[in-house]
Amino acid sequence: MDRTAQLTARLPERATAYDPPAAPPAPASSASLHARAARVLTANWTGASTVPSRSLYPHQWSWDSAFIAIGLRHVSPLRAQTELETLLAAQWGDGRVPHIVFNPSVPLDAYFPSPDFWRSSTAGRAAGAPRTVQTSGIVQPPVHALAAWLVHRADPGLSRARGFLARVYPRLAAWHRYLLHRRDLGGGGLVSVVHPWEQGMDNSPCWDVPLARVTPAPARSFRRADLDHGAAGDRPTDLDYGRYVRLAADYRDSGYAEGGAFAVEDPAFNALLIASEHALARIAGELGAPATARHARAQRLTAALVDRLWDAERGMFLCRDLRGGEGGGGSGVLVPELGVSGLVPLLLPGLPREVVTALVRTLRGPHFGLGGRTRLVPSYDLLGAAFDPHRYWRGPAWFNTGWLLERGLRLHGVTAAADTLREAVLDLAGATGFAEYVDPFTGEACGTTGFGWTAALALDLLHRPPGTSVSSTGTGTFDSRDMGGDRR
Ligand code: SER
Repeated sequence: MDRTAQLTARLPERATAYDPPAAPPAPASSASLHARAARVLTANWTGASTVPSRSLYPHQWSWDSAFIAIGLRHVSPLRAQTELETLLAAQWGDGRVPHIVFNPSVPLDAYFPSPDFWRSSTAGRAAGAPRTVQTSGIVQPPVHALAAWLVHRADPGLSRARGFLARVYPRLAAWHRYLLHRRDLGGGGLVSVVHPWEQGMDNSPCWDVPLARVTPAPARSFRRADLDHGAAGDRPTDLDYGRYVRLAADYRDSGYAEGGAFAVEDPAFNALLIASEHALARIAGELGAPATARHARAQRLTAALVDRLWDAERGMFLCRDLRGGEGGGGSGVLVPELGVSGLVPLLLPGLPREVVTALVRTLRGPHFGLGGRTRLVPSYDLLGAAFDPHRYWRGPAWFNTGWLLERGLRLHGVTAAADTLREAVLDLAGATGFAEYVDPFTGEACGTTGFGWTAALALDLLHRPPGTSVSSTGTGTFDSRDMGGDRR
């Protein structure tokens, strides 16, 4: 049996639910791509979790770990379970899952901001920060329940034997409770981020206006470590960093209580919460707990997302700046910048049909260029004044958003475009040595290479053959069942 056939044969039980692959077989190079991606995950494994990058990000990052677990499950379901368990072990008493869990054996100056900046065990004491492990005090997008469900499905026998879902479920439920109860800062049912690092797309032009209200910390008051490992032109500017530091320090000094200068409802953050809420319903069902209320909540959140963030004229979702608008105290204003975050809700079942149609049109149109001008979907509007093809989240294409959009296209039956995107993710991941991000036009590697989620998500796509489609009822497919589209 050749390697591609072996991979297909090793797919877990859900594979039988696919429509027969209609697209050409995977290229012969897929076996070596698989091996190379697996090697990245092995090289980045620390014994209990995976670093996004040995050089640039030498600790455990929250949403990275979730994406990494999604790929790692195909190589080692046990390591994938451990990845999530390690992260969740650092959960705070109030339910928040920190965006970084620090590795105590890494020198303090290897990454900034380091544990002595966040001071989680003292400044975070009232919020229930753990005493034995140092973490940051902000959060990242809640991809974890989705990851936990997918990890379970990769090897349900091992998962049941280890009581994996039973152990992570209460922590995931507490995490979602924190977000839904403590972070509904706009009062409209959606979750807000209080720092650009929380949303994960640090220097997206969507933050330019909300961040402009923040007085930067003086440049001499901190030392960036990222520039030791990445080209300055690929990274956020010093002015951005000054503002990141000020916001984080103010949050820390408030005891990590909400109420600071930055509060934004972001479409991707909320869409990932909704996808994870559907996954949590699946997990509850598996454990014999009631699931209907969770699916219903996911539907209510979807309605709130459309109600508060949809812009029909632009054909995509926008961010809502809660501190913007008249006097800064009202329900905020939509930010008229087109970031890839506004396309990510495509991964949700239960969107109005016209919203799906418009999102696909926008993705293929001049602003994002799928199937046209770009090799991979850019992080920001190709026609936007702030577009920069190399600078982090101001234009470069990232592999996690490519993976999320591929799922969305497939879920909604836009199979040919999903196949195009899948091929592009695999080609560029392999050609760049698993780059952190790439120039969307040329595919040139930016940031670092050997990047964890790039390797992991390429692995995941290798295990999902092209050409699969999703029926309109959403039944009988891996994607729709895992995303909550199948309500049988
Ligand atoms: N993405 C941030 C960094 O570049 C932190 O999460 O360090």
